[in-house]
Amino acid sequence: MPVTRRRFLAKVAVGAEKQKETQMKARPIVTKLLIGAVMLCAGPLAAQTVKVGFMSTFSGPGAAQGDQLDKGTKLYLKLNSGKLPQGVKIDLISRDDTGANPDVAKRVAQELIVRDKVQFLTGFVWTPNAAAIAPLTAEAKVPYISMNAAGVNILNLSPYMARVSFTLWQSVYPLGQWAAKRFKRAYIAVSDFAPGHESEEAFTKGFKEGGGKIIGTVRIPLANPDFVPYMQRIKDANPDVLFAFNPAGKQATAMMKAYGDLGLDKAGIKYIGPGDLTTDEELPGMGAAPLRLIPLHHCSAAAFRQAIKTFVAAYKKEYGEKLNPGFMAVGAWDAMDLIFYAIRAQKGKVDPDKTMELIKNYKNPNSPRGPIAIDPDTRDIIQNEYLREVRKVGGQLANVEIETIATQLKDPWKEFNKKK
Ligand code: PHB
Repeated sequence: MPVTRRRFLAKVAVGAEKQKETQMKARPIVTKLLIGAVMLCAGPLAAQTVKVGFMSTFSGPGAAQGDQLDKGTKLYLKLNSGKLPQGVKIDLISRDDTGANPDVAKRVAQELIVRDKVQFLTGFVWTPNAAAIAPLTAEAKVPYISMNAAGVNILNLSPYMARVSFTLWQSVYPLGQWAAKRFKRAYIAVSDFAPGHESEEAFTKGFKEGGGKIIGTVRIPLANPDFVPYMQRIKDANPDVLFAFNPAGKQATAMMKAYGDLGLDKAGIKYIGPGDLTTDEELPGMGAAPLRLIPLHHCSAAAFRQAIKTFVAAYKKEYGEKLNPGFMAVGAWDAMDLIFYAIRAQKGKVDPDKTMELIKNYKNPNSPRGPIAIDPDTRDIIQNEYLREVRKVGGQLANVEIETIATQLKDPWKEFNKKK
């Protein structure tokens, strides 16, 4: 083991010991899934085990999103573990980050690196958590693949990070351009954390470049917001269109409800945003308010491509007919596919630098969301963006794709900020 890595491990081991008592109290959920080709090939115990540390939100208000990551990950393992090279198996070690909580995220990542000696890290719904562990991935040389955390700058913090989810710039900048062709005056309402700020910037740029005017902007606290006063203020300002971003899930639903209850729809104020607003697992429980809403995103469970149909069918078979996979379940599926690709290419003997080189060449024409690839210059995702409208299909609300707005789009923010 190189000296720098040994020193790093010794350093974090001391911190990890100190935190032991708190950890015992917090009782993090630790699930271990041992799945592998071993069973299939009845080989000797010399099997190659690859340890993957999976960090998600299993408790607190964000647990529904964490559950999407968990379900996507476990479905992938169940259906694909037999496709690893002979004798190679995955040991998935799951840890609870408890929500957008960078301190807990750092602690669980340290434990996974030092005690469990994982060779990959993955997971995270939340940008602050992924940003907090960036220095650990760089010092310990453990590749981390983001399943969701979308903050635009995360990958610049460590060369051992890559992402299969999205950036808000990817969906929101084209949405701003699209909106400028239809509306003159926009109001912006976003959650007050990095992805919200990035949505605000991206929409403002796209909308203004197309000649639109921003008549008001509000940032809404991430914890327990009451959306009614914000919606009243927006209604009084009377824009043509409300652009909003909240984290997918209960917050988006609550804001939508306030929009409907206060009659912004009846006042003729159109509601648009990234697909986080109407994520597929939440949509059936959102009431009538999202009907006709325009979300732009990279993934819809109601799309017509065969890959998503196959994925939705497998998901429902595993978890129940009533459950739709949202884009976070797809992010988890794709992250596992990327990890499997790197393991297969190295026949189970994974080296972090080789892994990062391999990741830069990753392509999947058959992701459930559509064709994807990793941008070798930035380690970020390249994907299509689809304009959708929320419509009723078979008595249920669905994100119906109406147009492919961008094909194989790189993160626009990085394109705008390229070093000359
Ligand atoms: C993030 O923290 O990066 C994040 C969380 C929820 C979303 C999107 C992005 O819906």
